[in-house]
Amino acid sequence: MKVNIIFSTRYGSTGQIASWIAERFSADGHEAFTADASSAGAPVDADLTVMGSGIYSHGYLKPLEEYIGRYAETLADKKTALFGVAMKTEPIMHNGRSHGGILMLEKYAAKLGKSVIGCAMLHGQMIFSSMTDEDKEGLMSFYRMAGFSETETNERMKPRTMMNKAECWEFAENLIKSVNRIKQ
Ligand SMILES: Cc1cc2nc3c(=O)[nH]c(=O)nc-3n(C[C@H](O)[C@H](O)[C@H](O)COP(=O)(O)O)c2cc1C
Repeated sequence: MKVNIIFSTRYGSTGQIASWIAERFSADGHEAFTADASSAGAPVDADLTVMGSGIYSHGYLKPLEEYIGRYAETLADKKTALFGVAMKTEPIMHNGRSHGGILMLEKYAAKLGKSVIGCAMLHGQMIFSSMTDEDKEGLMSFYRMAGFSETETNERMKPRTMMNKAECWEFAENLIKSVNRIKQ
């Protein structure tokens, strides 16, 4: 099958993850392509369109949100999958309500209806020194709001990677299994 992986990234981790996912599809003989959402064409010829973005303030970056908005109708009749790349991939419960993790993908899945055959949250990375001043300030105010101590804040400002090729390949493997199951 032909698989298009459309991604949105600010600092590159989601581009790397998109390539790992593509590599796993290729290893099974599928034709897999990656494209940045800001320049990707219409998803007309793909058997499966996989879409993912770095998570910023609990959602996708704008270029991928716009891509989904623009092509939701075209995609709704096809097969799609969604992923997010984040430092915290599990949902948390606060005051009796769950937030974050895969729940962040629900609003995008809702636009794509029954076409969605799989979703995953994958681990990303943060290199504080390479961020824009705006992002540095955003993170600092989040850490203050969360009540982190100076030691905890300093820990978070160290370069941290949680990127994991094995989990990206597992996501691709699960998608291949889902497509094969649908075919039967
Ligand atoms: C300003 C800012 C906001 C972020 N917001 C979230 C968030 O809400 N939830 C989360 O788990 N990770 C958050 N992250 C971590 C990113 O999702 C993570 O670094 C990801 O790997 C970035 O992807 P990219 O390199 O493809 O842009 C944030 C990072 C920055 C710099």
